[in-house]
Amino acid sequence: MVRNVASLLPELDDEDFYLLSGVEQGMRFSEWVNREKLPEFASLTPEEVDYRLERCLKRGLIEKKTIQYEGYTLQFEGYDALALRALVERDAVAEFGSPLGVGKESDVYEVKSYKPLALKYHREGYTNFREVNKERDYTSDREHVSWLYTARKAAEREYEILETLYPDVSVPRPIEQNRHAIVMERMAGVELSRAALEDGQVVGVLDLLLSELARAYDIGYVHADMSEYNVFVDESGVTVFDWPQAVPTDHPNADEFLRRDVDNLVGYFERKYPGVIPDWTTDAIATDVRSGSFESIAG
Ligand SMILES: Nc1ncnc2c1ncn2[C@@H]1O[C@H](COP(=O)(O)OP(=O)(O)O)[C@@H](O)[C@H]1O
Ligand SMILES: [Mg+2]
Repeated sequence: MVRNVASLLPELDDEDFYLLSGVEQGMRFSEWVNREKLPEFASLTPEEVDYRLERCLKRGLIEKKTIQYEGYTLQFEGYDALALRALVERDAVAEFGSPLGVGKESDVYEVKSYKPLALKYHREGYTNFREVNKERDYTSDREHVSWLYTARKAAEREYEILETLYPDVSVPRPIEQNRHAIVMERMAGVELSRAALEDGQVVGVLDLLLSELARAYDIGYVHADMSEYNVFVDESGVTVFDWPQAVPTDHPNADEFLRRDVDNLVGYFERKYPGVIPDWTTDAIATDVRSGSFESIAG
C-alpha cells in the first residue's frame, strides 16, 4: 500500500523536488543512483543535496542503500509527489479528496479543480518491484528501472486511449497526465457489480454496454478487461473505464479478447439476473459488435 502524499506537498520546498527529480533522472541509468552523481542530476550543491536527501528520506519519498557505493532510489511515494506536484502546477488538481478505489494496479483518489475529478496513480510493476527488490543484485542494469517505466507507460497508454475514445465512447473524460498519473472526470453512479437493476432495466443496460464496445471497436480498440468492476452505471447511462490493457483491433488476439469481454459481460448479467437475458451466443454478439451492426441482445 502506497501512502497518500497529498498532505506532504505543502511542506516540501522546490529544492526537495529538484532532489526527487534528480533521483528520477539518475534512475534512467541505474536503480540505485550514486550519491556523488546527485548534485549534477538535481542541479544542487553537494551540501544542499545532503540536506534534501535527509528530508526526503525522513518522509519516505526515497530509499537509501549502500552497495559498492551509497545509492538512492525513488519510492512510489516520491514518484507520486513528483506527478502530483506537476498536476497541481498545471491546474489540473487544486484539492485532494478521499480514496475512490484502491486496486492491485492502481490507487484512485477524488480530486477537484473546477469540477469533481479523479486522479489515478498507476501501480503496474509495483508488486513485482517489491518482490524483486528483496533479492536482486543492485548494480546498474543500464535499462530503465522497470516499475517506474511500466507504471508510466501504462498511464500514457490509458490516457492516449481515453483521448481517442472520448466522447464517442462513454469513457471518463481525460483531463491531464503526468508520469504514472492521469486525471479524468469523476464518474457519477456506482460500479455495475454493486448496482441493483430492476428486471425491466437489465436488457437495456446490457445493450448500452455492448453498444459502447461496438463503438470502441469501430474506433479501433478492444477493452480486453471487461467486467462488472470496470463499468459505472447511473440514471444517465453507463461509463466504461480502466483502459490501459486495451488492444487495437488489428492485434492478433483482438478477436479472442473481444469474445472474452462479451462472455464476461453477458455471463455476469445472466448469473446476476437469471431468466432475464434472452438466448445468446458469443459468436453472434461478437460478430455484430465487430461489424457495427449491434443493436440489442433481444435480436
Ligand atoms: N473516473 C473515475 N471516477 C470515479 N471513480 C473511479 C474513476 N476511475 C476509477 N475509479 C474507481 O477506482 C477503481 C479502480 O480504478 P480502475 O481504473 O478500475 O483501476 P484498476 O486497474 O486498479 O482496476 C474503480 O473500480 C472505481 O471504483
Ligand atoms: Mg478496474
